[in-house]
This record gives sequence, C-alpha cells and structure tokens, in this order.
Amino acid sequence: MKKLIVANWKMNPTSFKEARNLLLGIKKLKNEKIAEVVICPPFVFIRELKSLGAGLKIGAQNCFFEEKGAFTGEVSLLMLKEAGVEYIISGHSERRKYFGETDELINKKVKALLKNGLKPILCVGETEKERKMGVAKEVIKRQLFKGLEKIDDWKLRIKNLSVAYEPVWAIGTGNPCLPKDAKEIFIFIKKLLEEKFGKETAKKIRIIYGGSVNGENAKGYIKESGMQGLLVGGASLDQKEFIKIVKNIR
Ligand code: PGA
Repeated sequence: MKKLIVANWKMNPTSFKEARNLLLGIKKLKNEKIAEVVICPPFVFIRELKSLGAGLKIGAQNCFFEEKGAFTGEVSLLMLKEAGVEYIISGHSERRKYFGETDELINKKVKALLKNGLKPILCVGETEKERKMGVAKEVIKRQLFKGLEKIDDWKLRIKNLSVAYEPVWAIGTGNPCLPKDAKEIFIFIKKLLEEKFGKETAKKIRIIYGGSVNGENAKGYIKESGMQGLLVGGASLDQKEFIKIVKNIR
C-alpha cells in the first residue's frame, strides 16, 4: 500500500493565483512510486485546481453529510464528489475547536462519506491538557469509536478509511510528537481498529501522523513509528519543504 501524504492548506492562500502556483510547483509529485499525494485546498479552489490537470489528487478539508437542501453555507459531499474529490479530512481538531464539531457530527460525516464511496480521513488526538492529565489514550479511543460508530455495514468499503493521529499540542506549534511516542499511538490505534473490525479488515485502514511535520522529521514517522502516511499543514504551503517531505520518506 502506498503511503498517503496529505497537504492540508487550511484557509490558505488568499488568491487563486498563489494556489495555482503552489500546485504547479509540486506537480512532479504525481509520479511518486511510494506515496499517494493529496492536496486539500479551500473549497473555492478545488474545481479549478483539478482542471489544471497537474495530475495530483485534490481532496477537501471538510464537508456536510446531507446531499443537498436548506443548509446555508455548507458544501455537500456529493458536490465534492462531482468536483473530482476523493479524500476528505473529517473531524480535524480545528473544526472541533472553532466550529464546535462533535464526535456525533463527525460520525455522520464519516458514515455518509463511506456510503458514497468517498475516502474520509478521520482525525483524532489529545490536547495539551488531556496529555498532561494522562488521558490521551482515553480521548483517542473515544474519538475513534464514536467517529466510527455503526459503520460495520460498510465493511467492504472500509479500505477507503484512513485515521490521522494529530496530537493537538503538536499542530502548528513546531513541537512535533517524538516518533517513539507516535509509534505507541500507532500501535494503540491499530489494536482498536482490529478490535472493531477484525484483523484482516483493520489491515486495510491507513494510520497516518500529523502535527508539525517537516522535511527533516517526516522520515521518522514512517520508518520509526510505522505510520502509513502524513498529514501536513504549515509545511505544505512551502513547495520546497513539501517536496522534501515526500522525497525524504523513501
Ligand atoms: P501542521 O498542521 O503541520 O501545521 O502542524 C497539521 C494539521 O493541522 O493537519
């Protein structure tokens, strides 16, 4: 299975011109043998970036679980699917923190995505406070099991699911998780997935790491922690750094 390297541009850049240049600057990554590279720009850039034909996969940072209707300001998963999106980040900690997303809401999104043949990347991870209180694993287990509630029916499509371990204290702080600590959580999440879906099915689900990933530390998460990919925020806005991440994990 290829490593999944996801660029989360968050609410950047502010112009299409910059977005276009950034995408064109990294388009050579489309031919990577060991990595599947997915770029998640803001919604408004998705369709145009896709049509640039750079060959890179375009994902989304969020979606709404209803197909259509009176939901002012939302973007439905069907609209994203039609725009050529495959991967959709679900339950990012910034969505949980600033937009009040709950485990229940995230579960609805994950279920709807799997049902529609899309590929959710379910984000889990503890805050600094939860880490200090020693409840990190409890939090991760809750987010994972609640986020994946009642999805047994879609076992066949479970290979479309990825789980991103993103310790909140490591996001955008320049204070990444140590690879040995990420390894402990990788093993923990793997066990939980096996418990829920059985060993064979769990094997199909990629577990990736996110939180202050850069060109220097990327390799450690793949080689030392066993992670099957990376979710990259800040460093994905710097084309040289992002290319370095993808090249360095080999
Ligand atoms: P970061 O963000 O790489 O800037 O820490 C990661 C993320 O939020 O997905």
